Parts: sequence; C-alpha cells; structure tokens
Amino acid sequence: MAKARTQFICQSCGTVHNRWAGKCENCGEWNTIVEEDPMGGIGSGPGKTPKKGRPVTLTALSGEIEEAPRIHTAMSELDRALGGGFVRGSAVLIGGDPGIGKSTLLMQAAAALARRGHKIIYVSGEEAVAQVRLRAQRLAAADTDVMLAAETNVEDILATLAEGKRPDLVIIDSIQTLWSELAESAPGTVTQVRTGVQAMIRFAKQTGAAMVLVGHVTKDGQIAGPRVVEHMVDAVLYFEGDRGHHYRILRTVKNRFGPTDEIGVFEMSDKGLREVANPSELFLGERNEKSPGAAVFAGMEGTRPVLVEVQALVAPTSLGTPRRAVVGWDSARLSMILAVLEAHCGVRLGQHDVYLNIAGGYRITEPAADLAVASALVSSLAGIALPADCVYFGEVSLSGAIRPVAHTAQRLKEAEKLGFSAALLPSASAELPKGSGGRWSEVESLPDLVARIAG
Ligand code: TYD
Ligand code: MG
Repeated sequence: MAKARTQFICQSCGTVHNRWAGKCENCGEWNTIVEEDPMGGIGSGPGKTPKKGRPVTLTALSGEIEEAPRIHTAMSELDRALGGGFVRGSAVLIGGDPGIGKSTLLMQAAAALARRGHKIIYVSGEEAVAQVRLRAQRLAAADTDVMLAAETNVEDILATLAEGKRPDLVIIDSIQTLWSELAESAPGTVTQVRTGVQAMIRFAKQTGAAMVLVGHVTKDGQIAGPRVVEHMVDAVLYFEGDRGHHYRILRTVKNRFGPTDEIGVFEMSDKGLREVANPSELFLGERNEKSPGAAVFAGMEGTRPVLVEVQALVAPTSLGTPRRAVVGWDSARLSMILAVLEAHCGVRLGQHDVYLNIAGGYRITEPAADLAVASALVSSLAGIALPADCVYFGEVSLSGAIRPVAHTAQRLKEAEKLGFSAALLPSASAELPKGSGGRWSEVESLPDLVARIAG
C-alpha cells in the first residue's frame, strides 16, 4: 500500500492545501487549516466489483413522479422555510450559532410529527438521553413517541437506524460530533464530518427517510463548520437571531425542492419556540413614532411582506475620520447611499458620524431598502421626524434615480393592513393597487426625496 499522504484542509470551507498556512486563501479565515488523512476510509477495505448502471430516458420517467413526497410538520413557519415540509429521501442541513435554538426547534418539530403518527428518531451526540428528555418535558413534548438515542459513532448510529424499522424522519444533532472508524482524523474535522454526513445521506436515499442534520456555525475553525457539507445536502437552512432579542429567523439559503428566499419567524419563550405568523407586528412593536431618523421600510422576505423600522443617527464628528457603523444592513451599500447623497443632493456628511440600525436586530438584504435608509439619514440630519403613517421602498441607483422594485402591491397591502396610509415609492411602479384609500406618492430621484423631507 502506498504511504499515507496527509493533506491540509481548511475546517471552514473544506479547501485542500498542499502545505500548512496561517490563513486559508480561499475563504480568508485564520487558523482553520488542519492536517488530515483525506483517504481515511475511502479505498481501504476489500475491493468491490463494479456494478453496471442502466440509464433511463426522461420521457420514460414522466408520469412516475409527480412531486417530491413531503412530510408536513404542522409548524407552518418551518414548513414555509422548507418549501412545504421535509422531503422524503432528502437531507436538510440546519446551521446556526450554538445556543440559538436548533435543538429546541427540532425537538418541537419531532414532537409535532410524532403526534401525527410519524416515526421519528432523534440522535443526540451532544446531550445524554436524560437531558434531551428534560428539554422535551419543558417543551411539553415528553408524551410523544419520538425515539431518542445518544450516539456519536457513525456505524453505531446506522445500526440503530436499521433497527428503527424505517423511520420517517431522522435528526442528527450535531454533525460535528459524528465520527467514523473508517476515517482516521480526529472527530470534528472535515474528513470526519464529511464521512459521517455521506453515510447519513446514503441512509436517507436508500430508505426514503428525511434526514435532518444540525451543524454549529464556528468562528474559530476548531471544528468543521456547516459550509463544508452545504454542497452535499439537498437543502440548507440557517437559524439566526440576536442574543439580545427573542425572535429567531429560519432562513433558506439552498433548496433543491423549493424556493430559497423564504423565511420562518419564531419567538423564543420559556416554553420553547412560538411561531410568529405576522412578523411585521413584531419588528414594529418597539416603535417610537415622533423621533427624527426613523423610517419604516416595506420589505419582502420571499413571498411574504415584512415591515421593519430603519433607524439612522447622523451627528457631527469629533474625530478626524468620521465613523460609519451599521447593524443589520450592508455597510458597502450605506457608503453608496452616502456618496449619492453627497454627489447629487449636496448633502455634506464628511464631518458627520453615521450610525444605521435595523430595529429588533433584524437583517435586511434587499436593495429596495435604499429609499428607507436615505429617508432615515436625511431625516436625522435635518432633525425632522418623518410622518408616522408612511412607509418607504425603492432602489437608489448611482445616478440618484429611484428605481422600481418588485411586489409593489403586496408591500402596500401589508402597509395598509398595519395602519399605514401613505407611502413613498419609485415612480413608474407598476401594479399600484386601485381603489385603496392610501396616499401613494412617487419619487423620481434622491434630490426629489431630500426636497420633500427637508425642503
Ligand atoms: P438549544 O436548542 O439548546 O440551542 P442549540 O441547539 O442551537 O445549541 O437552545 C438553547 C437556548 O434556548 C438556551 O439558551 C435556552 C433557550 N431556551 C429557552 O429560552 N426556552 C426553552 O423552552 C428552551 C428549550 C430553551
Ligand atoms: Mg443543540
């Protein structure tokens, strides 16, 4: 046998390097490169005779499969993020910071499914069975038939699952605790995590069970992060939230069987996660209506409108280089809006610190928030509060023009539902709702906006 050759693998992104380095050139993370034996398990063992496959034409398949068979969880926020429930025979990765509530979410989902007669196996590698039971008790899930196992060894888990007589859903909490005898590197490394995940995916494909894999997001690279298995699974969801706030967002970033821009919103309580059917009410709950610098953005998350407050503070600086601090939005985008305000509207901000915050710890990714951000900035600088019953949306281009965005009617409908009777929106917005009582005014450009607020 050839001499074992080790490789250096980044624990964050999985890139293979020829030699050790302090920084991974691919993902830019520091101290994440670890020496591993990449062939651990693969190729060792007795040789297998190759099997001949038989290709089939697509037309021969038509009529056979109508839609991916799904397991609905009865938790509508989870189903929404998954695109309609767990798909049989597929693997889903649920990633998130430690302590954000992944185990809680999955225990609740497992209990809900078990109540509807599904067979669920929950494999915990981090907590003992008694601990998992304790959590289930707290979640009022202890009276269900969810089967628990505390195991970390891949071969043991597969044996347990095989004995479990065709489970509908298997939860592995977490992938970082998986270790296989076939791979030689330490538990938690890329090779171990990959080998374990591969085995779990194979089990799902062979038995038609839905496989849910929990992955902790790691900052220091001591253990492999979920990114190294993202491409192996069918769907990737991230569970996000701010420690200082109670709500949590389940965000879909990859889905082979559904849309990727959906979110599910939950609120963490002492009895577990509560579903939030109307997120706008949550994000607008803390509103202080009369202060300058606040603008309500009518946003979209997938197919659902979400209203959220954008807060800006513009104040004279005492530093040589003024500060720009952003929470919940893209800082490059803020720089762009500031540059456009300077270049086209004569708004001088070179001597001002600028702070931007999205209320409630929420994170906006849509460019449609540009207009709300610009309005909040101008309002704060001018010291003039914006009308409390108005929402804002539209994309700002480098020329200062306000460009139309999609889903105008849905945004306005949600605003009306929550008691907003006015909106500033791009001109040439199609699909304006007819016959509604709202005052929808169109803005052509950023100078036009500045004139309306401060003029
Ligand atoms: P957990 O699901 O263990 O997080 P993860 O699996 O992502 O690491 O959740 C841990 C946090 O959630 C912990 O700080 C306590 C809190 N929590 C509640 O607030 N209410 C509850 O009912 C439960 C079960 C947990
Ligand atoms: Mg956990």
